[in-house]
Amino acid sequence: MLKIGIRIIGIGLLHSFLYGYLVPFVIYPRFGKDGITFAVIVAIMVSIGIMATLWLGKNKKKKQRREPMTNIIEWDKKYSVDEPELDECQKQLMDMFNTLIEMKTKKSDPKDVANLITELNDFFKIFFSKEEKILGRKGYPDLDTHAKSHRRFIKKAIVLRREIAEDVDNLSVEDIVELRSLLIAHFETVDTMFIPFLRIHKYVEECENKK
Ligand SMILES: [Fe+2]
Repeated sequence: MLKIGIRIIGIGLLHSFLYGYLVPFVIYPRFGKDGITFAVIVAIMVSIGIMATLWLGKNKKKKQRREPMTNIIEWDKKYSVDEPELDECQKQLMDMFNTLIEMKTKKSDPKDVANLITELNDFFKIFFSKEEKILGRKGYPDLDTHAKSHRRFIKKAIVLRREIAEDVDNLSVEDIVELRSLLIAHFETVDTMFIPFLRIHKYVEECENKK
C-alpha cells in the first residue's frame, strides 16, 4: 500500500507541476493548444508507466519466489574461443565447478570435496597449458602477457587449495563462486583477445592449402 501511495503522490506532484506551471507559462505560450494536448498525453503515459512499475515489481518478486537463487552456471556459447579443444575444456571446468558447488551445498563428504578441488586445480593447469601450446604454435604475439594472467589465476587457486588443506570447511560456496567468476572473467576478457588472431590464422592456413 505504501508503494501505491508513493506513486500516487509522485503522479499528483507531476500533474500539479505540469498544469500549475509548465502548461500555462511554458508550453501554451510557445506551442498553443497542440502543446497542451501533447503535454496531457505525455503526462498520462508517464502516469501509466509509473503505476506499471508496481506491477512489474510484483511479477519480479513472484518469479524470484518461483526460481530459488542458484549458483549453478552452465557453459554458454558466449565463452567460446572458437577452438573446439579449448571449448571442451571450458565446459569440463564449468561442470566441475557446478559439481563442487552442489557438493558443498549438500554438505558432501569433505574428502570428496577436497579430491575434486585437487582435480580442478590440476585441470586448470592442463587447460592453460593446452591453450598456451595452441597459441605458441600459431605465433600469438601476446602470449607472454596471456601466460602471466594464467599464472596469476593458478596462484589464486593454489592459495585456496592450501587454505582447505588443513580443514575443508575453510572453503565456502562463496569462495568457489568467486574463483569461478575470475575464470569466467578470464574467458570473457583475456581469452576473447586471441579469437580474431586465431580466425585470421585459420583463414590464412585455408588459403595456403587451396594453392
Ligand atoms: Fe587464457
